[in-house]
Amino acid sequence: MRSQVVIVGGGPSGLLLGQLLHRRGVDAVVLERKTRDYVLGRIRAGILETGFVNLMREAGVAERLDRECFIHEGTQIADGNEMFSVNFQELIGESVVLYGQTEVTRDLYDAREAAGARTIFNVDDVEICGADTEAPFVTFTAGGQSHRIDCDFVAGCDGFHGVSRQTIPLTVRKEYEKVYPFGWLGILSETPPVDDELIYANSERGFALCSMRNANLSRYYIQCSLSDRPEDWSDAAFWDELRRRIPEHVADKLVTGPSIEKSIAPLRSFVTEPMRWGRLFLCGDAAHIVPPTGAKGLNTAASDIHYLYHGLMQFYEDKDSEGIDRYSEKALARIWKAERFSWWMTTLLHRFPEMTEFDLKMQQADIAFLRDNVDAQRVMATNYVGLPF
Ligand code: PHB
Repeated sequence: MRSQVVIVGGGPSGLLLGQLLHRRGVDAVVLERKTRDYVLGRIRAGILETGFVNLMREAGVAERLDRECFIHEGTQIADGNEMFSVNFQELIGESVVLYGQTEVTRDLYDAREAAGARTIFNVDDVEICGADTEAPFVTFTAGGQSHRIDCDFVAGCDGFHGVSRQTIPLTVRKEYEKVYPFGWLGILSETPPVDDELIYANSERGFALCSMRNANLSRYYIQCSLSDRPEDWSDAAFWDELRRRIPEHVADKLVTGPSIEKSIAPLRSFVTEPMRWGRLFLCGDAAHIVPPTGAKGLNTAASDIHYLYHGLMQFYEDKDSEGIDRYSEKALARIWKAERFSWWMTTLLHRFPEMTEFDLKMQQADIAFLRDNVDAQRVMATNYVGLPF
């Protein structure tokens, strides 16, 4: 087989890149380790930056998104019993969009199928070969047979545990990492959201987040211990704990119900440099991870896809390699800022086990400054809605 581009990983980043390239006549094969249903069963954050939405529009896959999404003009920050809002629209004239990542992925799969583009599921033993030569190729097994695809470029969109990053030799690659000493326990429930906006809550008992998917589907999270397992938490215990972590007047209007999904995610900040090795380009979680506070995961992948897509088009249409040559530098410049913002929001709102009384006072002062200072709010708004590409 031959394809101009091989995209390793059929999550939202890989699919979005595939769709953008397809629209411009560049063919790409997507290789996915799991099945479509498995990929669509993963629940991820629900906040999209305008830049991401614009890329979906450019890829011609934003029709349902534009119809069904909810515009969020701001967010609520709670601190114990107090709550204040940060209104992005008033502060900087921009908003974010609420639309589940699972729905984004579904729309991208539907568009890919409608376009007749090639996706190979259940692939195993993926190897990226000759990435540092002019003639890279990818080998894998599928349906009990070995395959080889020769290509011009490989896009590594296969997530944190994927093979793409591991393909870059350790002598070339440098990794930066911070692992947080807690996780997020999340549930999805068919109940009306407790508020019109998201509530990010700091409390003595730890962080909580009230989010949503639609008028009758809510997503809630509480900071939990890394040793907790979802089955340790009954629905009743979850709701009780959530109520204790949000302001009383909010807890009073919380509608509870059975959970339809419950899972625990660890929190990590991670970046690998460079994001390019020869003809292999890392995108999204393959190159960087943010803790979910601030919902930057998918949104950071979007800027990678933007830079890589434009770099590849410049290569194919103008025979100019400037865009791909500067891919890593451009992508990383934006990523580090999103890393800083996600780390800051995480630090602002969580209880760290090793926190001293001084650390707590610093956190309280940081929140009070945000509450009282419009410039601090503008800084938060600018980052939350997403930095320009
Ligand atoms: C979510 O709705 O799942 C969500 C929203 C905002 C975050 C993280 C997760 O910061």
